[in-house]
Amino acid sequence: MDEIVALCLRRGFIFQASEIYGGINGFWDYGPLGIELKNNIRDAWWHRMVKCPPVGPDGEALNILGLDSSIIQHPKVWEASGHIGGFNDPMVDCRETKSRYRFDHLQAYRHKSDETLPLFAFVEGEPEPAQKKIKKAKKGDPATDFEVVALTDLGTTDFSRVIGPDAKALGTLTEPRQFNLMFKTYVGAVQDEDSVAYLRPETAQGIFLNYRRIVDTMRVKAPFGIAQIGKAFRNEVTPRNFVFRSREFEQMEMEWFCHPDEARKWYEFWCKARTEWWKSIGLSAHNLQLREHENDELAHYAKEGCGTYDIEYRFPFTAPGYGELEGVAHRGDFDLTQHQKHSKAKLGFFDEERKERFIPHVIEPAAGLSRGVLAIMCEAFVHDPERPSKMFMKFHPRIAPIKAAVFPLVNKDGMPEVAAKLYEELGQTYAVQLDNKQAIGKRYARMDEAGTPYCFTVDGDTLKDQTVTVRARDTLAQERIGIDKVKQYLADKIGF
Ligand code: GAP
Repeated sequence: MDEIVALCLRRGFIFQASEIYGGINGFWDYGPLGIELKNNIRDAWWHRMVKCPPVGPDGEALNILGLDSSIIQHPKVWEASGHIGGFNDPMVDCRETKSRYRFDHLQAYRHKSDETLPLFAFVEGEPEPAQKKIKKAKKGDPATDFEVVALTDLGTTDFSRVIGPDAKALGTLTEPRQFNLMFKTYVGAVQDEDSVAYLRPETAQGIFLNYRRIVDTMRVKAPFGIAQIGKAFRNEVTPRNFVFRSREFEQMEMEWFCHPDEARKWYEFWCKARTEWWKSIGLSAHNLQLREHENDELAHYAKEGCGTYDIEYRFPFTAPGYGELEGVAHRGDFDLTQHQKHSKAKLGFFDEERKERFIPHVIEPAAGLSRGVLAIMCEAFVHDPERPSKMFMKFHPRIAPIKAAVFPLVNKDGMPEVAAKLYEELGQTYAVQLDNKQAIGKRYARMDEAGTPYCFTVDGDTLKDQTVTVRARDTLAQERIGIDKVKQYLADKIGF
C-alpha cells in the first residue's frame, strides 16, 4: 500500500488535499492522471448503466435514465430518509490523548487466564502498538497468551480495564456515544436552526426526490432505473486507508424501480451484473467476492429479510480479507413510502398492463467511484524487477489514463517533426502524450508508471520506410508497423 500511495504522489494520481497547509484528514485531490483514471471509470459505469445497459434476465432491453441532482436538499429529506435519526456511528473518545475512535472498529488483547491484567486496545487491522505495549510491560506473548476481543462484546468490568490504543493509563476511554455522520451547513445569511442544511451523505436520495418528475416527464414503465454519479460527504470518525474511507468521495448509484413481486429476481440480476462490470474494467475474479450482510450490519433502509450484498475487493490493507467496493441493497419501498409520508406527494405508480397501483420496490447497486479508483490502482500495480521502473501499472487499456505515448528516438534528423505529426493525429481521438526528454529507457519507465499500454517510437528507419516501433507495456514485445496503421492499431487494441 505504501508503494501505491508513493506512486500516486510521484506520478500525479492522488494528492493529500490542502497539502501545503499540512493536509486535512479525510480529503484527497486527484491530479492529472488520477482525474483521467477516475473519469474513465465513471464513463465506463455511465456507458454500462445508462447509455447501453446490460440485457435483462429474460433477454429484455433495460431502461435506465440519468440524473444530476443538488448536493444540498431540503433538510426534511434527511428526516424522511432516516439519516438524521439513523445515520450514526458509535464512537468513543480517549480522555488522555483526545483521540476519537469508531467503537465498532476497536479490538483488544485480553489475557486468556489472568483477569487482573489490563486489556490492550487497538484499532482493527493495526495491532502493532498494543503488541509493543504487552511486550514492553512483559505481560506475555500477544500471539499465544492473549485472545483478541471486540470492544463491542465487552462487559462493563472488562471495559473499565481497557488501555486505549494510544493511551498509557487505564480506563481513559469514554462510553460510546452516537455521532451523526452528516456535515451540517447553513443556507442564507442567517445562521439559526431554521437555516440548517446538510451535505448529502449519499446520492440516492436525489433520485427518490426526482422520481415523480421523471415518471411523469419520461413516460417510463416499471421496471426502470434512475442513475446518478456525484459527490457524497460523511464526517467519518476515522477516515483511513488512503481514499478507501474519506470524508468527501464520489458514488455511482442506480435505483431500480420494479414491481414488488419481481424484486427478488432483479436483486439477483444486479448482484451478478455489477460483479461482471467490475471484472470488465480489470478487477480479477480472485480478488472479488460477493458477501451477504449479517442481520446486524444491515442499513436502516434495507428491506427486512431481503438484505444487502456487498461486492468486496481484496485490498492490500484488508488482505487476506476483503473490503466493500459496492453495496447492492434491496431497499423495498422504504424510501418512496417515507417521502410520501413526509412530503405528502403521491409516489405510487399506476401500471397500465397490470391495471394496478403500487409503490415500486427498489434494488440499489451503490458503487464507490473513489473506492473503485483505489481498487483499480491496487489491481494494476505489478512488481517487475527487470524494468528500470521496477514496476508497471497494468491498467485495462480502456481505463488507462494515457492510451499511448509517442517518442522520437532522438531529437534530430526530422524525427521530432514526424513524432509531433503522429501525436497530433492520435490526439484527435485518444489521450496521448508526446515525450522527447531524456533517454528512451527513462521515457518507457515513465509510461510504465503511468500505465500507458502502448508506446510508438519514431526512429531513423521511420524516415526511410514509414514504420514505427510499437512497444506493448505488459509483454514488452516490440514490433514494427506502418505509421499510417497506428491509429487503427490502437482502435483494435483499446476497443473503440
Ligand atoms: N445509497 C446507499 C449507500 O450510500 P453505502 O454502502 O453507504 O450505501 C455505497 O455506500 C458505496 O459508497 C460503498 O460501497 C463505498 O464504495 C462508497 N463509500 C461509502 N462511504 C465511503 C467513504 N467514507 N469513503 C469512500 N467511499 C465510501
